[in-house]
Parts: sequence; C-alpha cells; structure tokens
Amino acid sequence: MSAYIVGGGRPLEGSVEVHGAKNSVLPILAACLLAPEECVVHSCPDLSDVTASLDILRHLGCRAERQGDTVVVDASGPTGCDVPDALMREMRSSVIFLGAVLGRMGEAKLCTPGGCELGPRPIDLHLAAIRAMGGSIEERGGGLHCTGPLHGADVVLSIPSVGATENIMLAAVAAKGTTTITNAAREPEIVDLQTFLRQLGADVRGAGSSVIVVRGGKRLHGGEHRVMGDRIVAATYLAAAASAGGQVEVTGVDYRHLSTVTSVLSEAGCVVKSGPDRVYLRSAPLRGVRPVRTAPYPGFPTDAQAPLMAALAKSGGCTVFVENMFESRYRHVDELARMGADIHVEGRVAVVYGVPALHGAQVQATDLRGGAALVVAALGAEGESRITGLHHIDRGYQDLVGDLTLMGADIRRE
Ligand code: EPZ
Repeated sequence: MSAYIVGGGRPLEGSVEVHGAKNSVLPILAACLLAPEECVVHSCPDLSDVTASLDILRHLGCRAERQGDTVVVDASGPTGCDVPDALMREMRSSVIFLGAVLGRMGEAKLCTPGGCELGPRPIDLHLAAIRAMGGSIEERGGGLHCTGPLHGADVVLSIPSVGATENIMLAAVAAKGTTTITNAAREPEIVDLQTFLRQLGADVRGAGSSVIVVRGGKRLHGGEHRVMGDRIVAATYLAAAASAGGQVEVTGVDYRHLSTVTSVLSEAGCVVKSGPDRVYLRSAPLRGVRPVRTAPYPGFPTDAQAPLMAALAKSGGCTVFVENMFESRYRHVDELARMGADIHVEGRVAVVYGVPALHGAQVQATDLRGGAALVVAALGAEGESRITGLHHIDRGYQDLVGDLTLMGADIRRE
C-alpha cells in the first residue's frame, strides 16, 4: 500500500500556485452535458474525482479528453442516461450529474450515493427539488429512476446545500420556465458554475447570494472557462506552513475566498498578507484561538476544519471547534492523537488542548481533508511519519508531494 513518508520539523519556504478547484470543476463537468457543442475547461485539476467524472461523461456517450490541465468535452450526442453504480459509489458527489442528465436526456438513472466518511449524506433536498420541477422519481432497490419533463419552479432549500443548489441550477437551465432557488448556497464554486453556464448561453443570475434565478429552456452552445483556484488546497498549504514554521506564498486563489481561514491563522499568531490572487503567511509559535465554528459560506469552511485543527494541535493554548456541517467529521482526531495531539471530542464539539510538540507516527487517512490534516501535522512533528490511505487524499490534491517539496518539505510517496 502506498504511503507518504514525512520528515517533520523542517520549516516551509517558497511560493506555490494552487490547482483548479475540485468543488468547482465537478459541477462544471456535469454542466458540459447540457451543451450540444464542445466545451473547453482550463485549470482542470488531475484528481481521481475528476477522472471519475470524465468516466461518467464517457459512459453517457460524450467525448471527454484531457490535454494537460485542459479538458475538452463534446456532449453533442449523448446516448445514455444512467450513472454507473461503481462510479456513484466511488464518488458520492456524482449525484451532481442528476440534474444535468435529467435536463438533457429527459431521464436519469443512478444508485443512491452511499454514505461516506463524513456520516450519512442524504440527497432529500435534491430529490424534493426535482419533484417540485415536475420530475418523477421512482426509488427501487437502492436505485433512482427519474423522468421529466421538467418545468420551472420556486424552490426553497431548508439547508443552503451546495450540491442541491448546483443540481437545481443544472436542471433549471434545461427546464422550460423560470426557477427561483431561495436559501441557495453562496459558495464561490456556485458563482464559478454560474459563470460557466452563462458562457454556454444560459440565463442564470444571483449566484453568490441566497436567491438564484434561472430562466430555463434556452438553446445552449459550447463555451470555454478557466476554473477558479482551489481555496481549500490553499487553506491546507497555509495550515502546513503554520504547522511546520517558515513563510509561504500561495498564489492562484482569490484571498476573499479564505478570509475566515486566514483570520484564524492571524489570531493564532501568524503574519498574513493578502493580495488579489495570493496569500502570504509567515508562521510563529501558535496560540489557541476563539472557537472555530464551521458554517455555510461565507462562514468558516468545514473542509478547512481538519487541516486547521492539525496546525493548532501544536500550540500554546486551547481551541474549541464546532463542526456544524457534517455529523462525523472528526475521524482524523484519533490519528492526530497517535502523534501526541490532545483533543477531546463531544458530539459536534472538539476541544484541542495545544501541546508543545507532536511526534512522528504511523497514521491512516480516514477521508480527504482528514488525510490532508495528517500531512499538516506530520510536517510540524518531530521525527518521521508514515501516512497511508492515500486514495482519500488523491481525490482532492493534485500533487501534494510536489507542491510541498517545492516549499522545502521532506516528504515522499513510496
Ligand atoms: C459540498 O458537499 C462539497 N463537495 C463538500 O466538500 C463540502 O464539505 C460541502 O459542500 C459543504 O461545503 C463538493 O462540492 C463536491 P452540502 P455537499 O449538500 O454538496 C446536508 C470536500 O472535502 N444535506 O452542502 O454534499 C448534508 O448531509 C467535500 O471537498 C441534506 O441533509 O454538501 C450536510 O450535513 C467534503 N440533504 C449539509 O447538508 C441534502 O439533500 C451540507 O451538505 C443535501 C445535503
């Protein structure tokens, strides 16, 4: 089994550009299905979740080719409407194809996404919206058979769900009539998706606010788009520098997208300077900070909780985390404890008692961001760590070893 071998204790120095955002490119690739002409997507990161999405597009009869960090998708003649079970299980966020397949093909078949490492991942909001838009959904034997046609509707989300917002946007672009999404997710990735859809000729407005309006049924055309920088990868690298010490500059990311993360790092004692497309951080001995509560954007991003916790595990104080987005997003805590961290979990609350030092250990990634957290901790630990479960990390980090090595880290993949 492959593993990262990390020699801790070396400060990081240097500059690194983050790759395109996983959580933006996945819905954008699904959106390509709505266009009857070729789409070109630049800054498309080479991640296993992206590979799975390209495989789904090919399974649906599209041409999907990677040329470096550009992907070309031709959905001029899709033939299928079923998302393969194996790919659905591999990547639960494949549910994002539901709206696009149903919108383009008038029918969609997919198995209900399993839970994942973060706890149950229901899709009730996605399904309720599809029904509100006139779709019928038959649930049989763990699979969903959805049929259209779809019409515009006024959808109110009880939770500003990112995936549900994106699925409804995609379905609404194809549906005849106007769809209003109230209490929509406001994440930057939603704005990136709207930008792409407008490139294709769709009439979508309001992304970034809580109300999105789609005037659907327009004939679309092909388009070209450069995916936004990955704010969670940027947050991870900044946390790594806070943990290991030193000074780094992360480029290719809009500093506003991670301002709640950088404010925590500043409060912990780091010097943080932001520019339009970059963030600079100089580390210092870390202090505990006021409670970190995860929340929908623009609140503190749940995906940055684990990496930030890993950095604050070695600090001169206590920090309380409250994970409000997912039921089970502390599975990295036990692994951090093997490195000497002193963290107590009570339900959604994790109390991090900072310790003066962490030590290297053999640890196992439990999920994508929990795995990244182990790398962050290992970089700041004394001695060598061995991290397994890399398939989790490969889902969201294109070249963690390469990027960290660029900044002087002692890390290799064996
Ligand atoms: C997206 O997941 C991201 N994934 C997640 O990133 C991110 O953590 C999450 O948004 C929150 O920001 C992608 O974009 C591919 P949600 P998603 O629907 O869409 C509940 C990573 O590490 N809910 O906003 O699945 C749900 O259970 C990943 O990159 C329902 O109850 O998140 C959760 O508790 C992890 N019913 C909450 O809402 C539904 O129908 C937020 O989920 C849908 C969601």
